[in-house]
Amino acid sequence: MEEIIQERKKRVLSLIQPTSIPTLGNYLGALKNWQKMSKDYDCIFGVADLHALTVHVDPATLRRQTTEMLALLLSLGLDPQENIVFVQSHVHTHSELAWILNCYTQFGEASRMTQFKEKSRKHADNINVGLFDYPVLMAADILVYQSDFVPVGDDQKQHLELARNIADRFNGAHGQTFTVPEPFIGQKGARIMSLQDPLSKMSKSDVNPKASVSVLDTPDVIVKKFKSAVTDSEACVRYAEGKDGINNLMTIYSCCTGLDYDEIEKDFEGKGYGDFKAAVAEAVIEELRPLRENYQKIIADKAFITEAAAIGAERALRVSQKTLQKAQKKVGLLLK
Ligand code: TRP
Repeated sequence: MEEIIQERKKRVLSLIQPTSIPTLGNYLGALKNWQKMSKDYDCIFGVADLHALTVHVDPATLRRQTTEMLALLLSLGLDPQENIVFVQSHVHTHSELAWILNCYTQFGEASRMTQFKEKSRKHADNINVGLFDYPVLMAADILVYQSDFVPVGDDQKQHLELARNIADRFNGAHGQTFTVPEPFIGQKGARIMSLQDPLSKMSKSDVNPKASVSVLDTPDVIVKKFKSAVTDSEACVRYAEGKDGINNLMTIYSCCTGLDYDEIEKDFEGKGYGDFKAAVAEAVIEELRPLRENYQKIIADKAFITEAAAIGAERALRVSQKTLQKAQKKVGLLLK
């Protein structure tokens, strides 16, 4: 007898905070991979507006940035019918599970989170309990969907490790309840550096506007920024130690064209940095063009965004409610 095994697609989950528009670095390092993963995995992607409350932001700004980030996710080509794309605060199960998980998280382990320590230093006038609890809410985001994989950058690895520990501890106390999530190790997202200081990461909060490229920058702005990118005096396009500026441009070019470093070196043999920078700018413009064009359409269509958010929230709620109820029952809450 022929056996038909239908494997459930593995589930990938990630959230992004609604801060200002992402950079080319965020895109090549993460968002571009989200788009690719959406084909092979059961994907759940959200806008972490509750996490954004841990540092005080102007309410109108938060609302605008949440809408913009959602529009950006939709512009990536993530289909709200195929994948789940949602706003965290629209799905109450996250906060409810977070409370239960709080009671399975030790004060000591939460105190050891390096991001908490860093942020406490940076916002010394507002070390609120939300900032401390941030990784537990993140654990709830992940565990409430029984996520198999979480694509995370280096800065979030420790938080994912905490989520795994909380899941293990809860499962140990109450029997199998949560899938213990793994970090997603697929194509590794590239680490893109500042165009003005190639030793530090490209960041949207850089004071020098020429240091970073926004995913929504227009072609002429992109050309200008690459023209003024810091390089070196060797005038030879090759990937080598100490050539951080050129290495960074080669990484960007490679991500956008699929060419490897050897091929790039060959293509630009005997050519100067001016030609290379122009080629990189062109490749970036083409890479970002569909995203920018989609975004312009979507951000102008508020009804579409609202509808997509509603569909996403409904689907997210349906999936996450099962896990929440299971956890509530296990800890002894009287179910309605
Ligand atoms: N803390 C993450 C960040 O700032 C965002 C986030 C919230 C997240 N919940 C998550 C990432 C769950 C992955 C999984 O980047």
